[in-house]
Amino acid sequence: MATVDLSIRARQTEDQPISYFMKAAVEHPNLISLAAGLVDQESLPTEDAKAAFDEILADPALGRAALQYGTTEGYAPLRDKILAHHLGLEGQTRAESGLSASDVVVSTGSQQLLYLIGEMLLDPGDIVIAEAPSYFVYHGTLASLGVRVLQVPMDDSGMDTDALAELLARLDRDGELPRVKMIYVIDYFQNPSGRTMSLERRQRLVELARKYSKHRTLYILEDAAYRELRYDGDDLPSIKRFDTDNRHVLLTMTFSKPMAPGFKTGYGILPTDLVQPLLRFKGNHDFGSSNLNQYVLDRLLEKGDYYRHVDHLRDVYREKRDAMLAALEAEFPAVTGATWTRPDGGLYVWIRFPDGLETGPDSPLMKAALAEEVLYVPGEFCYVKGPGRVRTEARLSFGVSTPDRIREGIARLARAARSVGLPRVSQPRLAGCRG
Ligand SMILES: Cc1ncc(COP(=O)(O)O)c(C=O)c1O
Repeated sequence: MATVDLSIRARQTEDQPISYFMKAAVEHPNLISLAAGLVDQESLPTEDAKAAFDEILADPALGRAALQYGTTEGYAPLRDKILAHHLGLEGQTRAESGLSASDVVVSTGSQQLLYLIGEMLLDPGDIVIAEAPSYFVYHGTLASLGVRVLQVPMDDSGMDTDALAELLARLDRDGELPRVKMIYVIDYFQNPSGRTMSLERRQRLVELARKYSKHRTLYILEDAAYRELRYDGDDLPSIKRFDTDNRHVLLTMTFSKPMAPGFKTGYGILPTDLVQPLLRFKGNHDFGSSNLNQYVLDRLLEKGDYYRHVDHLRDVYREKRDAMLAALEAEFPAVTGATWTRPDGGLYVWIRFPDGLETGPDSPLMKAALAEEVLYVPGEFCYVKGPGRVRTEARLSFGVSTPDRIREGIARLARAARSVGLPRVSQPRLAGCRG
C-alpha cells in the first residue's frame, strides 16, 4: 500500500496544545476551565451585530456589494477607519505618524497575519526572538516553518531588553546575526503572563532593531491583540509609534478580543515595502477575508457601537480580574510560596508555584486539578524546549467563567495544589516577590 507522503512542512507541524484542552473539556463536563482563551460569552454584542447586518442587507446595493468578493487587502473604508482608530489610540495625526491607509491590511483573524508574516519573512533555520514565556500558538506556527525560537526572559516591565541586547551581541559575535529576522513581542497584557512592556523598553527595542539591522532589516512583530482591554491606568504608545520611518515594526491587532472572535477579522499596519509581498501570500491563501464581516465592522466603527462595546467589556473583565486576584489572595496565602502577576488588562494571570511543584500535562498537579474539575494551561507550553523552560507556572484565564465560577475554580486549584504538596506552613521566602 502506498504511504502517506507529507511535505516537510506538514511533518514539522505538530498538534497545537489546544487539542489537549478540548479533550479534557469533553471528558470533564463539569470542568471550570481557567485554560480556555475564549472571550466572555454573555457580553458578545448580538444586538449591535444584528443592527449592523440588518442595515447593510436592507440596502440592496450595499448588501450585494457586501455579499460579493472583496479585495485581498480589505474593504477600503474599513482600512481607513482602522488607521483612524490606531491614530486615535496613539493621539497622533496622519501627518505626524507618516502612515496611510495603504499600510493597513485586513486579515482573517490576526492569527492569519502572524502566519503570513512568518511565511513572508522567514526561511527554515532562521531565528525569531520571543519573550519567555510567550504565545504558544505562534511557537507552533514558527516550528512548522522550520524556524528556531530563542527566548529572552521578561519581568513585570516586559521583555528584558538588556538581556535582548546581550543575546543580539552574542549572535553577532557568533556570526548568526544574518539568521535573526524578527523579534516577536506581545506588548500589552501579554498572553500568557498578563504583563505589559514599559515605555522605556518599547523605545529601546526599536533602537536595538535599528542597531542590529546590519545585514538585513531586523523586524519587530508587535502583537497588540489585547491593547484595548485595559482596566486600570493609562494606555501606552505602541512600539510602532517609535518606528518613525515605518521600517521595522509590523503591528498586528484584532477585532476578536475587543468585539467578537466570530468575525475572525484582524488587521496589521506594516512597513510600506512589506505590504505588497504580504498581499501576494494572502492572495494565495484566500484573496481576501470575509467581505460581509468587514462591512459590518466598518459600520460598527462608524456608528460608535464598537467604542461603546469596548467600554462595556472593560467593566465586565475588570470585575472578573478582580474576582480572580481576590480569590488568589484568599486561597494562596503567602506561606504557600505561590506568586502571580496582577495585570492591568487582558485576560490572563500567570501563577508560579514553589520549586518542585510542577504543572505539566502529566504532573500530579494536573491530575489533581482534573479530579477537582478545574483546568489551567501548563506554563511549560509557553517556553521552547530547553534548559530555560520553567515547569512550575500556569496561565489562568478570567475571560470565560463568571466571577462566581472563577472564585470556585481558584478554590479547586488550591485544593488540588495542597493535595500534591503545596506548603500550608511558613517557609523562608524572599520579601516582596509577589508579582
Ligand atoms: C497574543 C495573541 N495573538 C493573536 C491571537 C489571534 O487571535 P485572532 O486570530 O482571533 O485575531 C490571539 C488569540 O488568542 C492571541 O492571544
